[in-house]
Amino acid sequence: MMTTTTTTISQHNFYGAGDSETCISIIENLKEEYGLFVWPCSVILAEYVWQHRSRFRDSSILELGAGTSLPGLVAAKVGANVTLTDDATKPEVLDNMRRVCELNKLNCNVLGLTWGVWDAPILDLRPNIILGADVLYDSSAFDDLFATVSFLLQSSPDAVFITTYHNRSGHHLIEFLMVKWGLKCVKLLDGFSFLPSQKASVLSGNIQLVEIVLSSQNENQQL
Ligand SMILES: C[S@@+](CC[C@H](N)C(=O)[O-])C[C@H]1O[C@@H](n2cnc3c(N)ncnc32)[C@H](O)[C@@H]1O
Repeated sequence: MMTTTTTTISQHNFYGAGDSETCISIIENLKEEYGLFVWPCSVILAEYVWQHRSRFRDSSILELGAGTSLPGLVAAKVGANVTLTDDATKPEVLDNMRRVCELNKLNCNVLGLTWGVWDAPILDLRPNIILGADVLYDSSAFDDLFATVSFLLQSSPDAVFITTYHNRSGHHLIEFLMVKWGLKCVKLLDGFSFLPSQKASVLSGNIQLVEIVLSSQNENQQL
């Protein structure tokens, strides 16, 4: 039987004021796994990280459900200390994350972290910023994801969770779970509102960017 290769390398460019620009290469496999494909939410979150790069420089960043890891890699490129994580039961996704770090010559930690599972490594994580692109896509996993985010924010009470998600059925479930897990939204943006037109023209969907903190976090904290 003939097999066709579905592995490709995509290039993602980021441009700023003056002559600042960068490029990240991602190894994708279009056939196999959710975590081996660059989802539109990831393109939007990576652009947000790039446009706010001074906020990310020298920060400790944890990406959940990172898959091909574009947002975390941009954070590493601008000088953050980055840990990329994905489902611990998916070695092919974790291996691809390591390969992508090597390809871009970026030194990130890669860790298996399954939402709602309290393995030893999660206990020591103290990120300033938690990232998650398209991690709210399967409502049966929302509770586990929010439990993990809530645990991490309680370990680092000044931290923030920044996520992009496809708003397919309204915010109600997410709003309910934020209250349940002691979290609140401090910023909500249309994902297309800050995306350069050449990127926006090839993406579609109702994608939101949300920043979430512990409800008890100081109202006056600068984000
Ligand atoms: C839709 S993909 C998004 C991947 C990547 N963030 C992006 O936007 O391109 C969802 C990701 O969440 C990961 N994931 C799903 N369930 C998970 C779980 N229970 N714990 C940890 N990661 C999970 C998948 O392996 C996959 O990488």
